[in-house]
Amino acid sequence: MAKDEIRKGLVGVIADKSAVSTVGRKDVGLTYRGYRIEDLARECSFEQVLWLLTRGALPTPDELQQLQKRLVAARRLPDEVKTCLEQMPATAHPMDVLRTGCSVLGTLEPELVDNVRMTKEHEDVIRIGERLTGSFGPMICYWYHFHQSGERLDIERYLEDDDSLSQVFLKLLFKSAAKPDALHNKVVDTSYILYAEHDFAASTFASRVTASTMSDVYSCISTAIGTLRGNLHGGANEAVMHFLEDLNNEQEAADMVNSKLSKKEVIMGFGHRIYKNGDPRNAVFKDLSHQLSQKPEGKPHLYAISQHIEGMMENLKGMYANADFYAASAYHQVGIPTYLFTPLFVVARTSGWIAHIVEQRSQNRIIRPSSAYIGPAERDLPSGGFVK
Ligand code: ACO
Repeated sequence: MAKDEIRKGLVGVIADKSAVSTVGRKDVGLTYRGYRIEDLARECSFEQVLWLLTRGALPTPDELQQLQKRLVAARRLPDEVKTCLEQMPATAHPMDVLRTGCSVLGTLEPELVDNVRMTKEHEDVIRIGERLTGSFGPMICYWYHFHQSGERLDIERYLEDDDSLSQVFLKLLFKSAAKPDALHNKVVDTSYILYAEHDFAASTFASRVTASTMSDVYSCISTAIGTLRGNLHGGANEAVMHFLEDLNNEQEAADMVNSKLSKKEVIMGFGHRIYKNGDPRNAVFKDLSHQLSQKPEGKPHLYAISQHIEGMMENLKGMYANADFYAASAYHQVGIPTYLFTPLFVVARTSGWIAHIVEQRSQNRIIRPSSAYIGPAERDLPSGGFVK
């Protein structure tokens, strides 16, 4: 790479070493700490994956039990957080709610200044990550119900100590103390695993930029949430659902695809910076969406329309669905409101962000690229500083 070559969008730039995941490497699939994503999705819970990502090894049964206890404690929202959630408008986007909730928690339970230093002692950082991961589901459900019905959600009323993070979310969303439907729970738990980590994706890189300045963990995570929100990144799962909702049959889907492509518009849920021959997460999400569509209350037409669009994109553009495409129809068939799709991505990805913040701190150099200046040449200020 020539010294003054511009790599727009940092395409192809290898910004640092990382031991967290492999994405799109030749002859290697998507792995977290060396374990294949398909195996993790089939055999493990999200809680095991959270431990794996943040600590580098799978947990023992005892470690998993300790983690579960901490995640149960992390469900508690301080009154100050609840008050802030009540003050936020009903029209707010839930991603803004989470970004703000993260900041508010950071004012109440700040990271100790010593930990912000580049120490090799990372357990405290990981504990903050666990606190945030455990509280994000309750936070979003508290805000949701308060603004839907004015109810101040009694979080523990519906929950038990052995509830997983996916069960917590589904129980609180539907205000039910019963264990959620097994397939619905599997969809949310597996989506958490699939969404948990993805190398230097935009939000992760953003969190590493913030970490590289020696800022605190809450600032790193709120930076990441703000970056994930956009439609070209995590926000794509919501954007997919918005167009799927408008389509009644395959002909309408075909017309939509042809119309967008003729106007050179991007179709959300397709394409990827790294994967040019398909996203390995897509097969898992697609299978879950298909399983849901086969249930009595499933929506086979939604799955069929999605398949039709997928086929057209492959044939017309040689472009493949990414993780967000079938996540949309899967979440929708579980009954999750569309604007809560990307917040679920936050619950999951916080573990990956934390793993990267720890890694950045342990091998830190401030991330500070340069630009090729194209502004005005040096010139004199008019006298008095006014335009003549
Ligand atoms: N629909 C139609 N055309 C597309 C799409 C798409 N989804 N994605 C890329 N293209 C086009 C581009 O416009 C570009 O066309 P051009 O050469 O005529 O300018 C060409 O394909 C090549 O684009 P890339 O260089 O491969 O795209 P890039 O790496 O810059 O962007 C991105 C990747 C942002 C994911 C892009 O494919 C996109 O916008 N997809 C839709 C949004 C989306 O689904 N995002 C989720 C990503 S996965 C995740 O965050 C979990």
